[in-house]
Amino acid sequence: MEKILILKGNILFTKIPERLEVYQHHYLVVINGKVAGIYPVLPPKYENCPVEDYGDRLIIPGFVDLHLHAAQFPQCGMGMTKQLLQWLNDYTFDLEKQFQDENFAREVYQRFADQLIAHGTLRACIFASTSTKGTEVLFDVLKEKGIGAYVGKVNMDRNAPDFIIETTEDSIAGTEYLIEKYRHERLVKPIITPRFAPTSSRELLEQLGGLALKYHLPVQSHLSENRDEINWVRQLFPEARNYADVYHRYALFGQTPTVMAHGIYLDREEIDLVKRNGVILAHCPDSNLNVQSGIMPLRKYLNEGLTLGLGSDIAGGHKIALNEAVVRAVQLSKLFSLDHPEYQPLSVPEAFYLATKGGGALFGRTGSFEEGYAFDALVIEDDSLTAGRYCLADRLERFLYIGDDRNICARFVEGEKIGD
Ligand code: GUN
Ligand code: FE
Repeated sequence: MEKILILKGNILFTKIPERLEVYQHHYLVVINGKVAGIYPVLPPKYENCPVEDYGDRLIIPGFVDLHLHAAQFPQCGMGMTKQLLQWLNDYTFDLEKQFQDENFAREVYQRFADQLIAHGTLRACIFASTSTKGTEVLFDVLKEKGIGAYVGKVNMDRNAPDFIIETTEDSIAGTEYLIEKYRHERLVKPIITPRFAPTSSRELLEQLGGLALKYHLPVQSHLSENRDEINWVRQLFPEARNYADVYHRYALFGQTPTVMAHGIYLDREEIDLVKRNGVILAHCPDSNLNVQSGIMPLRKYLNEGLTLGLGSDIAGGHKIALNEAVVRAVQLSKLFSLDHPEYQPLSVPEAFYLATKGGGALFGRTGSFEEGYAFDALVIEDDSLTAGRYCLADRLERFLYIGDDRNICARFVEGEKIGD
């Protein structure tokens, strides 16, 4: 039987990056979790269906966080004077080790999931830790909460402290166990997750690529984030043409859907490979600032036709709220264009697109309210004192800049209300 949901309110989303679609006081019809249409007047066939009337509130797509580390959630806002490799050694690995403790994992992951949902992230592409048991807890917590996610057990078998690296065999066995257990889930699914090239042996990369192909699973990792990291990769993999090629030669670079975080310093050949292979780049502006990685040439990549989304990169990034990443992406693009005036800064609709439909590409048809898209949505209650004075585009911008979880009054994932 058809399940029909009808909402009324001010509907805003981006079909294309440059333009906000705005429907004032319209009806949005959802059938079996998918958007069926947007109407100024409700068509007669729906006349007897109940309508959730949100009055003058905004209805927008849920945020898609394309890159974050659930096991780093307790570490937000710490070690922020370090650069990447030092920060991993001094803070991150110690914390991630603790996720072998299932009770600790459950406590942290529940808070993590609650905070994600509270702030309007309804789809996320997540690194857990190396612990198979801990990662299992994360799958189960996210399933209970009703959010959509890809979850990866982190794989690393070299170049990290002994207490955190695994043998190649254990790493693969744990990964395959989780794949078998969760691969048929509807909303929370496994993703192949080598941490990054430097902590991966060739054998590990080879076997992970094999698993991605065998089970048709997506892949996530880090790429070209920090100059020391890039030099290190060059030393470790002298046979590779460049950083991207390390992943590419092991079937971890677009042979199945792939998300690479950062990609700040890609050379010409790497940009072409990203494009040719349809790899999605996760831009993580807060993280790039905090651990002083650099500024991604975002406009250049957009001009090249690359697919991009936004990530909070908790805990390189310090805030889980993705509207903050939207703002930071705009701000950082302005800084970049001071030294590169040939590249225009990002507009707010463009950044909003990245945080919704851009990253949504990984999850199929999500992040927009076009017909057939999954109805993942937030209802925004903005300041009632001022709402009447401004146009809807200004109200959305204002929410993105100064709003927070207190302004989000309802959340839907594939037409189901969650987070209440
Ligand atoms: N590169 C390898 N591991 C990490 C991590 O945990 N965070 C970030 N930002 N970069 C990484
Ligand atoms: Fe990261």
